[in-house]
Amino acid sequence: MSARHFLSLMDCTPQELVSVIRRGIELKDLRNRGVLFESLKNRVLGMIFEKSSTRTRVSFEAGMIQLGGQAIFLSSRDTQLGRGEPIADSAIVMSSMLDAVMIRTFAHNTVTEFAAHSRVPVINGLTDDLHPCQLLADMQTFLEHRGSIQGKTVAWIGDGNNMCNSYIEAAIQFDFQLRVACPKGYEPDARFLAQAGDRVTLVRDPRDAVVGAHLVSTDVWTSMGQEDETTKRLALFAPYQVNRALLDLAAPDVLFMHCLPAHRGEEISLDLLDDPRSVAWDQAENRLHAQKALLEFLVPPSYHHA
Ligand code: CP
Ligand code: NVA
Repeated sequence: MSARHFLSLMDCTPQELVSVIRRGIELKDLRNRGVLFESLKNRVLGMIFEKSSTRTRVSFEAGMIQLGGQAIFLSSRDTQLGRGEPIADSAIVMSSMLDAVMIRTFAHNTVTEFAAHSRVPVINGLTDDLHPCQLLADMQTFLEHRGSIQGKTVAWIGDGNNMCNSYIEAAIQFDFQLRVACPKGYEPDARFLAQAGDRVTLVRDPRDAVVGAHLVSTDVWTSMGQEDETTKRLALFAPYQVNRALLDLAAPDVLFMHCLPAHRGEEISLDLLDDPRSVAWDQAENRLHAQKALLEFLVPPSYHHA
């Protein structure tokens, strides 16, 4: 299949990623100035959700409409996918009718298998392994506030989860140092660590990760699909809460990010999203702009009139 997919940050070159982010900033400016820009007129994005979502759904759906296209929300509860129709068959059929497909699911091989049988671009809207769209928004947000992230130090605090794995890929692609502070047994996937070499350092004490950092990021302690482990995780991750005192150890111009949804009083203190160092709301809004740029990058230009 010849379509270009976005299942991981590694599917693009570093130059492509930077140009998508820069385009996201341009599209944000066009929207802020009230300029109509319909580069995906009549294009249709299918959005398959096997997990819950607020930001991913709203940003992709609003983004497609703003670009002149449409988005179709497909819940696994209502499609034949949810009743066991093979992924490959679903991909062949859906990609014959749609211009792109976004998938949020559990196993990462669901998106790779779908992509292998899709004739249109497939976008990973989060799997158990990775959340690359969130990193586009995070990197756009850093660029807007502080300029290039190249050579900077980033601290990831908490669970070595899908977001952490995507931060590891971002460290490779955007060329920054990443320090991950996580409890024993909750390290990021060894495959991603091996890929990153000395760009990523693992520590146990969150203070060792944060000291001097230019960006501190965290996420929920219990990801979707791990709800049975919540009680155990709450106790184990307690020393990993990001609060104002922890941020005070970072660089004076540190930014704090959280992909949201947040659990105040757990992975962040009650007041952290109100701290001037937090850019979590900009980060959430940038999902819209960065993904519009991604859609433009992946989906071929509009149809011609007959
Ligand atoms: N950050 C993020 O992906 O949010 P949703 O789960 O609301 O889509
Ligand atoms: N790690 C979280 C991210 C939610 C956007 C999860 O997978 O549930």
